[in-house]
Amino acid sequence: MDEEDAPVTIDADEDGVVDAVTAQMSEHTSFIVLDQIISATAMLFTAQRIAAEAHRRGIRFLVDGAHAPAQLADPVGGLQPDWWVGNFHKFPCAPRGTALLVIPPEGGQDGQDLWPLIDSWGFADPFPERFDEQGTQDLCGPIAAPESLRDIERLWGWDVVRRYMSDLADYAERRVSEAASEVGGEDCSSPVRIPSPAMRLVKLPHGNRTPQELDALCPVFRDRILNELHAEVAVTQFDGELYLRLTAHAYVTADAIDRFAEQSIPTIVGWLRG
Ligand SMILES: Cc1ncc(COP(=O)(O)O)c(C=O)c1O
Repeated sequence: MDEEDAPVTIDADEDGVVDAVTAQMSEHTSFIVLDQIISATAMLFTAQRIAAEAHRRGIRFLVDGAHAPAQLADPVGGLQPDWWVGNFHKFPCAPRGTALLVIPPEGGQDGQDLWPLIDSWGFADPFPERFDEQGTQDLCGPIAAPESLRDIERLWGWDVVRRYMSDLADYAERRVSEAASEVGGEDCSSPVRIPSPAMRLVKLPHGNRTPQELDALCPVFRDRILNELHAEVAVTQFDGELYLRLTAHAYVTADAIDRFAEQSIPTIVGWLRG
């Protein structure tokens, strides 16, 4: 489905998400992919009720939890998807290219209909061995991934990090949206009602640019913010509005948020006026 005809509005609550997604299910639906944390809006979809409805209708259900590991304490718990996938190279701080595939037993799948994109020596093996027997593989990432999880548990504890991230994300959302509202002369607070714990939106005043113009501008602004202002912030467009997507982690400080609000926001708003 294109973003343009996405039925979930950015200010939807959990009921709104469930209603919008179930309204799209029909007797022709055989497979649903649901993002758990939405990239463009940082909304958190609690997928339990959607999964239950999909199962009731016999629709196979995959949860894309790319941003969920470590941001959520138990990202698969209670979901009962047929398949769940999530990245370890985002919030768990593991090497790039590391991810987890979970096939919960209660989902009814056994993995025997899953095949690696690249076939190799293991093609005749059952699941999961055929994913592991891939000829020449670089196993550094998968071997290091559990270490990154253990290291952060040992250094701070994941519960402490999760609380820190969500408190800092609250602060960042408030501080940066206040700065943007003041400089931009309009309300820049986030319309999102079901935010993810560690990623938050702040609206940016963009004049009358079209969604296509905003789409083109997002990667350019992300690079300018990185190269000229030395901050890593995603820039997204959803439903014709432009947003900064701020992310908190253990290595981000309130001081850095203050500097971004005070020094970078006036510059970014200035670019949008220029
Ligand atoms: C929902 C979702 N799925 C998949 C991806 C792809 O992640 P990657 O290419 O890092 O595996 C992302 C990236 O942000 C995402 O937000």
